[in-house]
Amino acid sequence: MSARRSVVLTEFGPPRVMSLTAGDLPEPAAGEAQIRQTAVGFNFIDVYQRKGAYPLPLPTGLGFEAAGLVEAVGSGVTGVAVGDRVAYMNAGVGAYADRRNVPADKLVVLPDMVSDEAAASLLFKGMTAQYLLRKTHAVRDGDLLLVHSAAGGVGQILTRWATALGATVIGTTGSPGKREAALAAGCKAVVDLNDADWPKAFLAATDGRKARVVYDAVGKDTLIPSLDCAAPFGLVVSYGAASGPAPAIEPELLNKKGCLFLTRPSVFPHNADAATFRSNAADLFDAIGRGHVRVDIGARFPLERVADAHEAAEARRVAGAILMIP
Ligand SMILES: NC(=O)c1ccc[n+]([C@@H]2O[C@H](COP(=O)([O-])OP(=O)(O)OC[C@H]3O[C@@H](n4cnc5c(N)ncnc54)[C@H](OP(=O)(O)O)[C@@H]3O)[C@@H](O)[C@H]2O)c1
Repeated sequence: MSARRSVVLTEFGPPRVMSLTAGDLPEPAAGEAQIRQTAVGFNFIDVYQRKGAYPLPLPTGLGFEAAGLVEAVGSGVTGVAVGDRVAYMNAGVGAYADRRNVPADKLVVLPDMVSDEAAASLLFKGMTAQYLLRKTHAVRDGDLLLVHSAAGGVGQILTRWATALGATVIGTTGSPGKREAALAAGCKAVVDLNDADWPKAFLAATDGRKARVVYDAVGKDTLIPSLDCAAPFGLVVSYGAASGPAPAIEPELLNKKGCLFLTRPSVFPHNADAATFRSNAADLFDAIGRGHVRVDIGARFPLERVADAHEAAEARRVAGAILMIP
């Protein structure tokens, strides 16, 4: 048994429903590795789960990603060993903790150039950008893309990487002060979502050209107007719901807006088995090595202040990734 502290949720609600509790962690079972976690990543999905918008059985832990050191392994573990620096993003909820047992096939060993903090700040978000620009649409030179929340965690990574692949990215932000971060990530122009006719501002920025792909994780506030920004036969990717769930769409509307394609993908099925996950992670690490993806930590909170971390994210105060340090 090892001592551990972890965040527990016993009811859905505002940030204060999360509490840090102390307890014992058993030795890792067969196929598991025990991680002493040094950095825990915050992702917006944690908010949906805390609020009950994506309901979990209670009581529950929270959090999908962390990095740290392997302290012990159970029987039958291959691929990771005691002393390895590792990270994960798809081992079920419960990453908000200082120690955790994780199925070893959900771990990736970190190369020297990727620090624990870097991994915890960008594995989940970077793997999301990875499938969005490799699989959902293979981004290539000359593509015009509209990326909503371009100053956010996923938004900055997607923008920088897509730009490095030769795409032109027009970003949006909804909070004052994030425009510079979106430009620094590579946006050619940044549209303010507070502008009532922001699609018009988007078209003004592109001389009337529409986007090959719209990447929209804002949802409720942006999905319908986003259809007016997509080129004929273009792709609209609804991959999140930061402002609330995206509205239902009649297929006929996609016809009227230009025979558009609409998809609602998720990072988890794209990384379902160990071999695919590690191969996609290698692609992400390669992009980091080439400078196509950069670590951008917007704020750090001690794990005790998990409620403040959520509060800052929901208030849209932070550009870049939020980390929690156990
Ligand atoms: N489907 C997938 O595979 C997948 C995987 C990972 C993440 N996601 C989604 O990708 C999005 C970005 O995730 P992230 O963790 O990197 O978060 P984030 O972008 O750092 O934060 C969410 C952003 O959404 C924008 N936003 C718009 N309306 C909002 C509202 N009413 N309340 C709060 N924020 C609002 C804010 O940007 P502005 O202030 O600039 O408007 C905010 O920065 C989230 O929607 C998340 O659920 C999807």
